[in-house]
Amino acid sequence: MPICIEFDYNNAMAEVVGPRHGLTRQLLEDLKERAAKSHKAFLERRATDVGFFKLANTAGRAKELQELAALGDSIAAACENFVILGIGGSALGPACVQRALGHLYYNLLDKAGRNNRPRIFVLDNIDPEFAAELSDVAPPENTCYNVITKSGTTPETLSQFMAFYDCVAAKVGPQKAKEHFVITTNEVKSPLLPLARDFGFRFCTMPDSVGGRFSELTAVGLLPAAVAGFNIVEMVRGAEAAAAVCDSPDLFANPAYLNGAIHYLADTVLHKNISVMMPYSEALRDVADWYRQLWAESLGKRRGEKPHEVCVGQTPVRALGTTDQHSQVQLYVDGPNDKIFTFLCVKKFRREFPVTGGLNAMLQGYEYLSGRDIQDLFEAEFIGTEYALKLAERPSVRITLERVDEAHIGGLLFFLMVQTAFAGMLYGINPFDQPGVETGKNVARALMKGEGSPDAQWLADIRTYQRERLRYPAVAIRTGA
Ligand code: PA5
Repeated sequence: MPICIEFDYNNAMAEVVGPRHGLTRQLLEDLKERAAKSHKAFLERRATDVGFFKLANTAGRAKELQELAALGDSIAAACENFVILGIGGSALGPACVQRALGHLYYNLLDKAGRNNRPRIFVLDNIDPEFAAELSDVAPPENTCYNVITKSGTTPETLSQFMAFYDCVAAKVGPQKAKEHFVITTNEVKSPLLPLARDFGFRFCTMPDSVGGRFSELTAVGLLPAAVAGFNIVEMVRGAEAAAAVCDSPDLFANPAYLNGAIHYLADTVLHKNISVMMPYSEALRDVADWYRQLWAESLGKRRGEKPHEVCVGQTPVRALGTTDQHSQVQLYVDGPNDKIFTFLCVKKFRREFPVTGGLNAMLQGYEYLSGRDIQDLFEAEFIGTEYALKLAERPSVRITLERVDEAHIGGLLFFLMVQTAFAGMLYGINPFDQPGVETGKNVARALMKGEGSPDAQWLADIRTYQRERLRYPAVAIRTGA
């Protein structure tokens, strides 16, 4: 099936939203030299330590894709529930693909209700209620758990692994318990690899050169997709189609580079330091969630190529059309003009929902809503929001998918990954690391391990901080003794 993902940037330009808040062709032309340098820098990273671009290769990965599809089928045949244990880049991609390609109410269906595939859950938090309730909803004896962690050291994921292993072992015994787990982890560095090999857990690997948030097209995303029965070759084919266009050094021929450049200029020249992604599609709802992490963790950086601190990065915000028209759009239209909007649209929805007009005689004045599909109102509401933003001089871009299927999702995610990597190069920062999350992790580890551990250096600082922050008494609403 042909693929079409269209990028329309008219409403980011001065001709449409006005000269104060829109970009000019000249600004984009002036960026060409920096864009060429950024393209070169991206190519250099691709040739050395950044591997996600190479994943868009159906022929080169044919055997791997076949094996992942077969593993997915065999897992699907053996369990009623499939639970992903992971966080950040190890959870958001699989969750977004399940939402896009699966049944929108998939967790409410029983196994037979969804092509005889397991119900799929993503446990990306360690809230004890969330975890305990999941073991009620998805009984461990009928469940397969996919432990996804690139590093193999993330405490949240390891504690989930350990806790669910205990739950399964209590039901089926320690020998059989291992059969309920598949580990997805780094092919070279993860401490989970020796565990899997020595103790007989099933495992899949992902390349060391692919970072968590860029890993949806590795086993991280493809195994859960295969378990759900999605066509993973098509997902990679979509990425391949995107890669063919998103490899061009020409800013105006490469939609990923162009959107990266538009966002970079919107931030650095027009002071739009918030990037809102607003899908007009329930299926694409969690693309905005996935993208929020990709954009935030990749571009929010203190240091870059300059010797001084730069502290760059737009704040990404997720919204949903039309739902958030009744929640956020008032702020978007009348509040601070500090945002650029990305609308995700779909040309052909997979289902229709007609309004035939049976209520017309009883509900007069609303005949304009009937005799058509509910999709027509969805589209009209989108145009209305885009136009209202334009009138208020708020820049936006549109990405339109011909339809939501495996190829379009693979293509869209790939487009957004290239956009993010390229924007990182324009900012002159490293979009592939995340040093800012280390302190929190170190402190949590020190608190869990206590005195005498190699991490204990943090404990004295933390105790001082905990004492000193209590200068002001808490103000409480309390009843009773
Ligand atoms: O994008 C990233 O690198 C991070 O968000 C990681 O995915 C996240 O911290 C989880 O790490 P890991 O997959 O090593 O458990």
